[in-house]
Amino acid sequence: MTNNTSTQPPLIDCSRVGKTWVDAQGAAVVALNNVDLQVARGEFVVLLGPSGCGKSTLLYMIAGLESVSEGSIRCGGAEVSQPGTDRGFVFQEASLYPWLTVAENVAFGLKMQGMSKEQRLKRAQSILQNVGLADAADKRPDQLSGGMRQRVAMARALALNPEALLLDEPFAALDVQTRAKMQDFLIRIWRQTGVSMIFVTHHIDEAVALADRVVVFTARPGGIKEIIPIDLPRPRDPKSPLFHQLSDHLIDLLRDEVDRAFAEQEVG
Ligand SMILES: Nc1ncnc2c1ncn2[C@@H]1O[C@H](COP(=O)(O)OP(=O)(O)O)[C@@H](O)[C@H]1O
Ligand SMILES: [Mg+2]
Repeated sequence: MTNNTSTQPPLIDCSRVGKTWVDAQGAAVVALNNVDLQVARGEFVVLLGPSGCGKSTLLYMIAGLESVSEGSIRCGGAEVSQPGTDRGFVFQEASLYPWLTVAENVAFGLKMQGMSKEQRLKRAQSILQNVGLADAADKRPDQLSGGMRQRVAMARALALNPEALLLDEPFAALDVQTRAKMQDFLIRIWRQTGVSMIFVTHHIDEAVALADRVVVFTARPGGIKEIIPIDLPRPRDPKSPLFHQLSDHLIDLLRDEVDRAFAEQEVG
């Protein structure tokens, strides 16, 4: 379901976005420079780049969790200045409340929307059903596997009916087999809901498995090096020659950037 039609306005529009952090010594650190990126409604975009290139920084700014230093970010035409229910967020480690049940975790954000407790739990049950976790509703997070916890985190974000789901290396802590399952799961959720996905990873194979378009970042200061469309039919076969060709191309694009990032880390 590639949806790159340029006739419709983009859901997310990053225009000349820059971010300068101030480090503990008070020195300015330019993390991102001049990022132009549009994400269409229903599109699956992957942000790929070496560690420290500003992927999380960009995602946090789109989420409204951090301010932009330069440029602007719009969602649905409106300037992003704070978090909103139109943008769900999934962190690398499922940040669930350990003292709440799975259903209560999923229902948590709905409280802010003024739903009654009964309505909230009903909505949570229905989302958990959709993501195949109905049986886990009364469990606590520490009774679940890492993969299941991340599914709960996605269910929690989806409960608010967002237009975009922002995912920051959500499968990084999982083993290879579980990660592959989670990628299939995420594609299924994407197709069911039609939300736009902005997914951060540093795994090339994960990018090719998931994306409509892969946004390749340069090393710090981060910017967009190239945007690569992935025109492979789904479900995708990681053993197919075309999959390999695209992965090889991304490896070539990233190699210089990883070398640069590594050299900088050794110096500094
Ligand atoms: N809160 C912060 N304060 C100061 N510097 C930060 C902060 N967050 C990130 N940075 C710096 O910004 C750069 C980009 O970081 P980040 O967005 O986390 O990269 P990535 O997610 O691609 O690994 C790094 O140099 C990092 O040290
Ligand atoms: Mg990061």
